[in-house]
Amino acid sequence: MRKNIVAGNWKMNTTLQEGLELAKGLDAALQGKTVNCDVIIGTPFTHLASIAAAIDTNKIGVAAENCADKEKGAYTGEVSAAMVASTGAKYVILGHSERRAYYHETPEILKEKVLLALANGLTPIFCIGEVLEEREAGKHFDVVKAQLEGSLFNLSPEDFGKIILAYEPVWAIGTGKTATPAQAQEIHAFIRKTLAEKYGQEIADNTSILYGGSCNAGNAKELFANPDVDGGLIGGASLSVDKFMPIVEAF
Ligand code: 13P
Repeated sequence: MRKNIVAGNWKMNTTLQEGLELAKGLDAALQGKTVNCDVIIGTPFTHLASIAAAIDTNKIGVAAENCADKEKGAYTGEVSAAMVASTGAKYVILGHSERRAYYHETPEILKEKVLLALANGLTPIFCIGEVLEEREAGKHFDVVKAQLEGSLFNLSPEDFGKIILAYEPVWAIGTGKTATPAQAQEIHAFIRKTLAEKYGQEIADNTSILYGGSCNAGNAKELFANPDVDGGLIGGASLSVDKFMPIVEAF
């Protein structure tokens, strides 16, 4: 059966020293605790190796926030999936709306990134979600379905089974405006139904679908209580142990 997961996405925040402090603080806070979910932190590339070496990665998984769509070579400034894997990170966040919007990542590019991540043993945390105008026009179901089809539905059932999904409505990211538990459940159930149509009920039932967008200590419990919401991808509230731990403990 699918896992409950609480994952942090630090985005472009923290220096290496601050990030190490944060990761070690979380590691200490989890010491001796039994939690009912997997815990992952997504950190800048520059932090991955140091953090993976400094914490118990069996307890806290480490994720990159991106990887290149090319295997290797003359792509100045890019970081490949193999490089990410060589740091000790086990996950990579792909398709975040900020990457789609600001860095023009298309479904085709994301398809390549997913394949390279999988080929290098990384688990993609693949983000989908609509913008406000699409939600207001009632197009959110079509949008998330197209995002799945555009970047993931080329995968074999075996490979698709390795994917973690994160539904992040763009209008809820960093805005303090959260999807209601009912809105989250409705679209998570739709996503699972879409997966079942493509890959069958068993794979659909085994896929973790996280909610992201202004998720915090105050609303996590209610969101996670929904049958099709399997955890959260947390931005702002992942940047302090005091804010992140209550979300981890919401399960
Ligand atoms: P916030 O939790 O800051 O809204 O960010 C959500 C997000 O984008 C996680 O990937």
